[in-house]
Amino acid sequence: MAIERTLSIIKPDATARNLTGKINAKFEEAGLRIVAQKRILLTVGQAGTFYAVHKERPFFGELTEFMASGPVVVQVLEGEGAIMKNREVMGATNPADAAPGTIRAEFAQSVGENSVHGSDSPEAAAEEIAYFFSGLELVG
Ligand code: TYD
Repeated sequence: MAIERTLSIIKPDATARNLTGKINAKFEEAGLRIVAQKRILLTVGQAGTFYAVHKERPFFGELTEFMASGPVVVQVLEGEGAIMKNREVMGATNPADAAPGTIRAEFAQSVGENSVHGSDSPEAAAEEIAYFFSGLELVG
C-alpha cells in the first residue's frame, strides 16, 4: 500500500467541546502522521466552496452554516493508505451507524454535527489539501 496524504477537518462541534487532542490521538494511534495543521474560522462562502460537490443537496445550507459556526482544525494526515485508513478511523457519516471505537461513534452528535471530515478519494485529497495548504506547510 502506498504512502498517501489526506485532508482532515476537525469540525466546530468538536473544537467547541475541546476534543482536538482526543481526536488527534485516534489518528496517531492508527499510524497516521499529522504533517500539517492549523486552526481557522471559515466563512460560509469558503465552506460552500469546499463542499461545492454537495451544493444541490437539501442539507447544503445547514452544512455550510455549521462549518462556519466556530473554529475548525484543518490538517493533512500521512501514512500507508491514509485516505481509506482515515475514513475507517472516522466511522460512518451518521454516528448511529458508526463502528464502536471510531471518532464518530465516540464523539459525533448527529449526522450533521459529526466531528470530522476526511477526503474520500485520491482526487478529492489532492484538491482539498491544495485548498487549505501550500506545499511549504506540509512537513512529513
Ligand atoms: P458526505 O460527503 O456524504 O459524508 P462524509 O462526511 O462521511 O464524507 O456528507 C458531507 C457532510 O454533509 C457530512 O459529514 C455531514 C453533512 N450531511 C448532512 O448534514 N446530512 C446528510 O443527510 C448527509 C448525507 C450529510
